[in-house]
Amino acid sequence: MKFFIDTANLAQIKEAHDLGILDGVTTNPSLMAKEGIKGQEAILQHYRDICGIVDGPVSAEVLATDFKGIVDEGMKLAALHANIVVKVPMIKEGIKAIKYFSDNDIKTNCTLVFSAGQAIMAAKAGATMVSPFIGRIDDANWDGVQLIEQIVNVYNAQGFMTEVLAASIRSPLHIVKCAEVGADICTCPLSSILGLLNHPLTDIGLAKFLEDAKNL
Ligand code: E4P
Repeated sequence: MKFFIDTANLAQIKEAHDLGILDGVTTNPSLMAKEGIKGQEAILQHYRDICGIVDGPVSAEVLATDFKGIVDEGMKLAALHANIVVKVPMIKEGIKAIKYFSDNDIKTNCTLVFSAGQAIMAAKAGATMVSPFIGRIDDANWDGVQLIEQIVNVYNAQGFMTEVLAASIRSPLHIVKCAEVGADICTCPLSSILGLLNHPLTDIGLAKFLEDAKNL
């Protein structure tokens, strides 16, 4: 399973990259706004900066919601760097745009996916990746990991090449569960990635080894 970081914060991207296990980055308008990035040129420059840190797919989300607007914006984003993946919302116009991008060899990430039916539409249109938001599904009292499993099964049964990118991760356990059911990619906040490192027995064991090492 590939690890993406779900942030637009350059320091966090660098920290995850320095671990040596980072495969890519996802952003969204909320994450960009959180970093205080304002104006089109600043947004484009921020994507360039992210691409300068991580040598892997970087999802950049379009703001337009009509076919022409999505295509124009997506082409501009894709021209920024070879690693840019155009992130397109799961709406009717978005599906048309994903098909257009797929026909023109531009990579896409279909975002805001909450059902297997939507995931099928994204794959049919030729999306490179599909992003089911599992944390938001859990928040709404459904089972997000179960949706990942269902989409993985459907894609395997049908031979779809679209990668399942588990998004809206809330905890290290989410990452483990997504790996268990066969997600291709997990995009996570830095805290969830670092959370995978933790176990109290590791801390206790290391403290004892270091204590005993004083007698060596
Ligand atoms: C996906 O690419 C989104 O950026 C993200 O995972 C949404 O997560 P949230 O539900 O924590 O906002």
